[in-house]
Amino acid sequence: MRRTIFMSILIENISKKFDSFQALHQVNLEIKNGSLVALVGPSGSGKSTLLRILAGLDKPDSGRIWVDGENTTHVPLQNREMGFVFQNYALFPHLTVSQNIAFGLDIRKVSSEKKQQRVNELLQLMQLDTFPDRYPHQLSGGQRQRVALARALAVEPKVLLLDEPFAALDAKIRKQLRNWLRHLHHHISLTTVFVTHDHMEAFELAHEIVVLEKGVIAQIGTPQEVIDHPANSFVESFLDKKTHE
Ligand SMILES: Nc1ncnc2c1ncn2[C@@H]1O[C@H](COP(=O)(O)OP(=O)(O)OP(=O)(O)O)[C@@H](O)[C@H]1O
Ligand SMILES: [Mg+2]
Repeated sequence: MRRTIFMSILIENISKKFDSFQALHQVNLEIKNGSLVALVGPSGSGKSTLLRILAGLDKPDSGRIWVDGENTTHVPLQNREMGFVFQNYALFPHLTVSQNIAFGLDIRKVSSEKKQQRVNELLQLMQLDTFPDRYPHQLSGGQRQRVALARALAVEPKVLLLDEPFAALDAKIRKQLRNWLRHLHHHISLTTVFVTHDHMEAFELAHEIVVLEKGVIAQIGTPQEVIDHPANSFVESFLDKKTHE
C-alpha cells in the first residue's frame, strides 16, 4: 500500500448542544500524526458526537477543527480525506464485497485499472480475497466489519475514524479484529481515532486514551498514565468498574 503523509488533528474548544442538552463542552484535544487514540467514557458522554463532528457529519456550535494546520470545521464530509466506520453504517446489501470496497472509488471516478488494483490490495490486506463476489448476507459479522473497514480505507483516507467498529461481535472475532487493527496500524500508521466500550481493547491498542465524562474531557494520557494516575475519582471508578466487568 502506498505510504502517505498522515495528518495531525487539533480539536479546539468544540461545544455542541442538542436543544438544551450540552453534549460537548469546550473540548480541546490534539491528535498526533499517525497515532492511535481511543475515546472512552460512559454511554451518553459524547464520544460519537465528537467523532461525527470530526468526520463532518455534524457541525459544532462553536470551536474549530484543524487538520494539518488548516481549519476544516466547515469543510464538507467528502473533502475531508477521512475514512469512517460507524456501527450503523451498513454495507450495501445489493453490492458484492468487491463492489462495496470500490464504492468510494466509483464516486471519485477513479480509473478501472487503478480501482481494480486498489480493491485487490485491500481484499488481501483484509483477508477477504477468497470471496470477493459474495454479498453481505453471505458473510459472517467479522467479515462484514472487515469489508466496512476496507471500504473506509479504499479512498486512502489520511484519518480513520471508528465508532465501536467491533461491537456486537463475539469475543473471539473481536480479538482477531483487534490484532488485525494493530497489525494494520503497524504497517500504515494511519492517524486513527476509535470509540470503544471495551476497556481492554482501548488499553491494548491505543497510544493515548481520552476519557469523556458528560461532554467534558476528564483525562488524556497513555494507557499507563490513566491506569496509574487517574485524574479524578470519576476516571478511577470508571476504569476500575470496566476492568472488572
Ligand atoms: N441528534 C441528537 N439529538 C438529540 N440528542 C442527541 C443527538 N445525538 C446525541 N444526542 C445526545 O447527546 C449525548 C451524547 O451522545 P453520544 O451519541 O455522543 O454519546 P456516546 O458517548 O457515543 O454514547 P454511547 O456510548 O451510548 O454510544 C447523549 O445524551 C445523546 O442522547
Ligand atoms: Mg456512541
